[in-house]
Amino acid sequence: MSFKNILVDSEESICTITINRPKQLNALNSATIAELSEAFRAAEKDAAIKVIVLTGSGEKAFVAGADIKEFAHFTTEEGKNLSAKGHQTLFDLVQNLVTPVIAAVNGFALGGGLELAMSCHIRVASDNAKLGLPEVSLGVIPGYGGTQRLAQLVGKGRALELILTAQMIGADDAHRIGLVNHVVSQQELLPLANKMASKIKRNSPVAIASAIRSTNAQYETAVNGFDKEIEEFGKCFGTEDFKEGTTAFLEKRKAKFPGK
Ligand code: CAA
Repeated sequence: MSFKNILVDSEESICTITINRPKQLNALNSATIAELSEAFRAAEKDAAIKVIVLTGSGEKAFVAGADIKEFAHFTTEEGKNLSAKGHQTLFDLVQNLVTPVIAAVNGFALGGGLELAMSCHIRVASDNAKLGLPEVSLGVIPGYGGTQRLAQLVGKGRALELILTAQMIGADDAHRIGLVNHVVSQQELLPLANKMASKIKRNSPVAIASAIRSTNAQYETAVNGFDKEIEEFGKCFGTEDFKEGTTAFLEKRKAKFPGK
């Protein structure tokens, strides 16, 4: 696979995807969205990859939003298609991956950039990060899931304040409201994401997949999350990972999960 707008690097079961348009502050044009979609789908299919880390190139931005130059002249219909296609090809895809994705937010995460970080399962940020959904200042609204996922993460009142004021917040405020889990210096950001990934990759991939499906179920209107948890919990008992995990515990040794 060769990409123009992203870099993909896999090492020790951790796949790092870096959005690489630093001069445009890593803004998401349609080519970048398509490449990200392909890279995420390939990483999910690769049994050797246990965790994905997503970050931005350069010291300034994670992603400064959807590419405004690309959609500035769109019609109503084109705007609707842009949003629907983005949801389907990237943002919903990332949320529903069963390989955990950690967003390492290394600078501006605005509009579609924050929406992408919010699609990831876990977010960590560097202390220079600035996060926000400034779309209403452009006469549009967040269109890649931001109105839904921000409220899910920080509550409706805080989400509406951020969306309606179009204000950016710093990493410490984002941490305070639960939008990111940890804040460290820029130099410490990828090491932190990799340390977290290393902890995750020791665990059963099958159980991790179940935990993601079950946790996501709370946000699906047609699904009862508690029922989903019961179903996923039961399914774990039929897996080789469960046999290995429980046997290893009883034999007082570290589990070696086959991932089945
Ligand atoms: N789209 C396209 N290009 C962008 C961009 C974006 N979202 N954000 C930054 N860029 C480009 C700039 O146009 C500039 O390119 P040129 O050098 O070719 O002019 C380059 O990146 C550097 O940006 P600035 O010179 O503006 O850098 P700055 O440090 O002065 O400001 C900033 C940084 C505050 C992040 C500013 O760039 C900015 O406000 N960007 C737009 C943020 C935004 O509104 N994002 C939401 C987009 S809409 C959206 O995402 C919709 C959706 O939900 C689907």
